[in-house]
Amino acid sequence: MDIKQTNDDLIRFWGESICLGEEDRQALADVPKDLSTLAPSQELFAAAKSLGDYERVLDYGCGHGWASVVAASSGAKEVEAVDMSPSIIEAASCYAEAFGVGDRIDAHVIDAGWLSRCDEGTYDAVFCSNVLDVVPKQTAGEIIKGLYAALAPKGKAIIGLNFFLSPEAASKRGMNLEDGYLFVNGILRLSNLNDEEWSTIFEPFFVVEKLEHFAWAGEEMKTRRLFWLRKR
Ligand SMILES: C[S@@+](CC[C@H](N)C(=O)[O-])C[C@H]1O[C@@H](n2cnc3c(N)ncnc32)[C@H](O)[C@@H]1O
Repeated sequence: MDIKQTNDDLIRFWGESICLGEEDRQALADVPKDLSTLAPSQELFAAAKSLGDYERVLDYGCGHGWASVVAASSGAKEVEAVDMSPSIIEAASCYAEAFGVGDRIDAHVIDAGWLSRCDEGTYDAVFCSNVLDVVPKQTAGEIIKGLYAALAPKGKAIIGLNFFLSPEAASKRGMNLEDGYLFVNGILRLSNLNDEEWSTIFEPFFVVEKLEHFAWAGEEMKTRRLFWLRKR
C-alpha cells in the first residue's frame, strides 16, 4: 500500500502531541517525583524498571522519555533517549532534569538513518514502546533490524505495542481499516497486526521470551502487548 503521508507529517504530528509549554515545565518542576506515575501502566513501569539491570540502554522513539527516566533511576548507567522531533527531545530532557537523572540520560534528535549507522553491539538493552505500530510496516522492519544490530550479543529488547483491532471491532467503532492500517485525520495511528504476525516478524532476529497483555489505566480489556525479546 502507498502510505499517504510522508515521515515528516508523522513526526510533525507526534512533535505537536508530545511537547511541553511553559506552564507544563513549571508544573513538572513542582510535581511530586513519583516514578510509578510516569508510565501508562504497571506492566510498562515494571518493564522499564527492569532496564535498571543493564549498563547501556537505548530508548528508541522515546517520546517524553518516561521509560528512560525510570531506567536511569533504577540503575542503568547510560541511557540514550532518541526521537525524531526536536520538541519531543526538549520534553525528554526536561523530564530527565526534573527527575534528577539528566546526567545519565543522553536525549537527542535522530534522523531516519541513525539506527543503521549505530555501531553494532552498542547497547545491552533496548526499549521501544508504541513506535513500531505507529509507523509504516517497512519502517518498522528497518527499525527491528537496526535494533537487532545495535544490541550486544544476547541483548534484551522490550517492545510495547498497541492493541490489535479486529475488522468487527473497527466497524463497531466506526473506524476504517485500510490494508491493515488505521488512519485518523489522515495520520497513520495504527499498523494493525495480531500477536502471531508480530511474533513472525520478530523471530528471525529475536527469541520471544515472553508476551504480556496489559491495559492502560481506565481500560477494561488487557489488549495491549509487551514483547520481551532476546537477541538471537
Ligand atoms: C506513541 S509515541 C510513543 C512514545 C514513547 N515511546 C512512549 O511509550 O510513551 C510514538 C513515538 O515514536 C516516534 N517516532 C515515530 N516514527 C519514528 C521513527 N521512524 N523513528 C523513531 N521514532 C519515531 C514519535 O516521534 C513518538 O515520539
